[in-house]
Amino acid sequence: MGCTYKILRGEDLETVVPSNQKFALDVLIGLSEKPKQLSSMYFYDDTGSRLFQKIMALPEYYLTSCEMEIIKTQTEQFSNLVGDGTFHLIELGAGDGSKTSVLIDHFLQKKLEFDYIPIDISEAAMKTLLRSMGKKFETLSANGLVAEYFDGLKWISQSKHKRNMVLMLGSNLGNFNKARARVFLRSLWNSLNNGDYVVIGFDLKKDIEIMLRAYNDSQGVTEKFNLNLLRRINTELGGQFDLNKFRFYANYNVFSGAIESFLVSLEPQRIYIAQLGDYFEFDAWEPIHTEYSYKFLESDISLLAEQTGYRIVHQLYDSKRYFVDSIWRVEKLEATAHK
Ligand SMILES: C[S@@+](CC[C@H](N)C(=O)[O-])C[C@H]1O[C@@H](n2cnc3c(N)ncnc32)[C@H](O)[C@@H]1O
Repeated sequence: MGCTYKILRGEDLETVVPSNQKFALDVLIGLSEKPKQLSSMYFYDDTGSRLFQKIMALPEYYLTSCEMEIIKTQTEQFSNLVGDGTFHLIELGAGDGSKTSVLIDHFLQKKLEFDYIPIDISEAAMKTLLRSMGKKFETLSANGLVAEYFDGLKWISQSKHKRNMVLMLGSNLGNFNKARARVFLRSLWNSLNNGDYVVIGFDLKKDIEIMLRAYNDSQGVTEKFNLNLLRRINTELGGQFDLNKFRFYANYNVFSGAIESFLVSLEPQRIYIAQLGDYFEFDAWEPIHTEYSYKFLESDISLLAEQTGYRIVHQLYDSKRYFVDSIWRVEKLEATAHK
């Protein structure tokens, strides 16, 4: 029992957890592109993870309260899936695990036998998560992995001896574009056994104003969260960004169905980044794309499950039907004999 974590590195798997070097390379590539872009997976250093916890508590950020309502009111739907026997409860992009702790509490009360394996790219988030899980649940066995999702999948495929329930809550999948989401879900399918379950939180398409408010909060926390990416480049890579010379902008693209977030340069500027040994030019009003947050129709979810080898077994909604936790079963067919 107890809560521990390890960092997946080259000696454990073939790839390396996003390190300072990988961060530097991604920043170099992203800022050399037109349009410029930085990956949202780099939001979550210590400060970014704390800012995200503040976002989750914002009244406008309905995603967390809706999903919390689903989990609190429909816990039996989750525990009924697993029945007897031990299983891995794996969580991809676990964050602070506040919603998952409701499920874990319920599973422990039901005396289900499981170990919890949170996987998150952020070591800061992992430490906070395991500290709070350790305090709440003395009997919980938790073994976290600080790893990028795809590296986490390699670990899952090496541990196929147990049944698995995989959680991907908080609309994390919505950060992937449609093509990448399909690749990811199929890779997850490859890593799992027939009959394993996957629970995915999807933010549903709704009144555009409601979605826009969630990303343009009145306290400016989401703006700070995005600007923290530039601060992180300053502290980790010796960048010289002046945060006051960028403004956050988030809009809804009705064609792609995503909230798209940007940092926009307010004036022409040339930014030096010491570790990259180079300057990066910005025109006035030039954007850096920072995040996609895709929104879904019911039909998008069915298509995604069908295309990637899963059967939808439950759609758990909140009372406003803003959000759904979609429970999928891995379907792997046996070959039938030819006559
Ligand atoms: C939007 S937060 C959601 C957290 C949690 N699932 C929830 O619902 O509250 C996303 C989490 O996923 C992690 N994350 C983002 N991109 C990741 C990646 N590519 N691989 C692994 N973890 C990632 C972040 O560090 C962060 O903790």
